[in-house]
Amino acid sequence: MASLRTLDDLGDVAGKRALVRVDLNVPMADGAVTDDTRFRATLPTVTELADRGAVVLLLAHFGRPKGERRPDMSLSMVTRAYEQVLGRPVRYVGECAGPLAADNVLAMQPGDVAILENTRFHAGEEKNDPQLARAMAELGDFYVNDAFSAAHRAHSSTEGLAHLLPAYAGRSMEAELKALETALGEPERPVAAVVGGAKVSTKLDVLRNLVAKVDHLIIGGGMANTFLAARGVDVGKSLCEHDLKDTALAILDAADRANCTVHLPYDVVVAKEFAANPPSLRTCNVHEVAADEMILDVGPAAVEALADALKTCRTLVWNGPLGAFETPPFDRATVALAQTAAALTQSGSLVSVAGGGDTVAALNHAGVADGFTFVSTAGGAFLEWMEGKELPGVEALKR
Ligand code: 3PG
Repeated sequence: MASLRTLDDLGDVAGKRALVRVDLNVPMADGAVTDDTRFRATLPTVTELADRGAVVLLLAHFGRPKGERRPDMSLSMVTRAYEQVLGRPVRYVGECAGPLAADNVLAMQPGDVAILENTRFHAGEEKNDPQLARAMAELGDFYVNDAFSAAHRAHSSTEGLAHLLPAYAGRSMEAELKALETALGEPERPVAAVVGGAKVSTKLDVLRNLVAKVDHLIIGGGMANTFLAARGVDVGKSLCEHDLKDTALAILDAADRANCTVHLPYDVVVAKEFAANPPSLRTCNVHEVAADEMILDVGPAAVEALADALKTCRTLVWNGPLGAFETPPFDRATVALAQTAAALTQSGSLVSVAGGGDTVAALNHAGVADGFTFVSTAGGAFLEWMEGKELPGVEALKR
């Protein structure tokens, strides 16, 4: 964090206007927020700034309205829910730039908090239009980016603004970067990575980057089938990207050269149909999958071997489930290995960092999210970080 300024570097902010980029892009169903993790992640920064007497102006996107004002993507829908999580009043302002926003800001007192309307209602946001960034900058005295999960986007509110106002990393951003640095920057070795999920094609760059960095690469989910097939295993009617055979072999080759042990399942849970507890369910060796069966989870013997491998490791980074975890009993491998990782973390022998898409849901399902050292709020940003890419929202804070 040496190169980033944080809230510790702010002087007296009483009466000053803080433009704080947060990620309020939470899942909703029937008008209610179904997971408020991202709201909670903003609390340290928002509470600290408000307590220090700043006027706190929250900038955020919601969904992908592509420059249109969409009532179904208005941040007014989440303001009350956010207010409840924050535990203090939150004003909703129907614009994130321009005269209406400025009038509202003028009426605010030190310590007040407001959510400004969806930045993506402006076409300029995703184009990183400097004009929009300047219009937003006029509302504030300084800028704080606390949205690691949106830092892979070079948008006006995530990147442009950092060049126009004194810029700081918020507490959540700080915590995310610190955890990621511990996991892949200068980790304690041996390092293991779990990469699961349906398709290899969505995680090629992740795998290419990881084989050069970790000692153990554990591949699960549908993508393991592609690797098994590349090695000549008949995976029956399993989800498999047969056209990526050469790519998979090249990744295995690169792993070999880098002394990275790749773990593919040697026993698997299969069924003839993808349904909860199907009658055709069975566990078998990977070489015994029938032509009409599909692999839906890693088998128990392989999970035990993976747990043994984790016991030798000091650091773990986890992205993606090992099986079709939303449908029982294909959640078993993910749950068992996640429980092992959490137990090792709690006993002090492992630093465990997880993130990205389905991962948090899988760890919550396993009841172990709290047992990990750090669970990222990020989806796409976590993946891009695992790919070894620079995140524009983070880079813009380094000056
Ligand atoms: C996310 O949900 O991962 C972030 O809020 C970023 O959203 P985006 O993928 O629409 O940019």
